[in-house]
Amino acid sequence: MSRLFVAVWLPPALTRRLRAVDRPPRDGLRWTTEDQWHVTLRFLGEVPSSGPVGLALGSVASRFEGVTASLGPRPAVLGGRVWVLPVSGLDSLASAVLEATSAAVPDTGGRPFRGHVTLARARRPGGLTGLPAVEVSGEWTVDAVTLVCSHLRRGGARYEVVDRWTLGKAGRAGAKDG
Ligand code: 2AM
Repeated sequence: MSRLFVAVWLPPALTRRLRAVDRPPRDGLRWTTEDQWHVTLRFLGEVPSSGPVGLALGSVASRFEGVTASLGPRPAVLGGRVWVLPVSGLDSLASAVLEATSAAVPDTGGRPFRGHVTLARARRPGGLTGLPAVEVSGEWTVDAVTLVCSHLRRGGARYEVVDRWTLGKAGRAGAKDG
């Protein structure tokens, strides 16, 4: 079993911009690190085999091209304890991923899609109060969807990109470490 999700990643220019954001240390708050900055299109959970999901993602990727995503401009609270930067422009791609992968991993009606990059997680409700009011925004052209394995660890998850499909092309583009 692997804990999997489908994601797109920020381009280096936006990663650099996010790196410059003020992220003050605080008890009960864990900031994400730049190797974790992604937008989840669909969280799959524990999946016995990635084969059928991979086939579905290949078919979605071949049908999309030139998807523009927009990051920002201001962080927001999601679900009470998660500090996120909103990302718009990915709803159609996320819907297509959900539809195509539902035969392999049935939709259990979890969180509806809300495009975002997670910046921090608070241990307790209220743990995000008073964080700096930063502004970060930027657009990018999404070139690929990836299948990511989440390795849960004490200090925060490590994400490993196990497969990658270039948008507008049939077939996979090869895995990379993420
Ligand atoms: P989050 O950052 O808002 O928590 C890996 O955990 C990725 O899948 C994260 O981007 C996480 O979003 C997302 N995700 C969506 N639903 C999830 C769930 N039920 N459990 C864990 N992660 C989930």
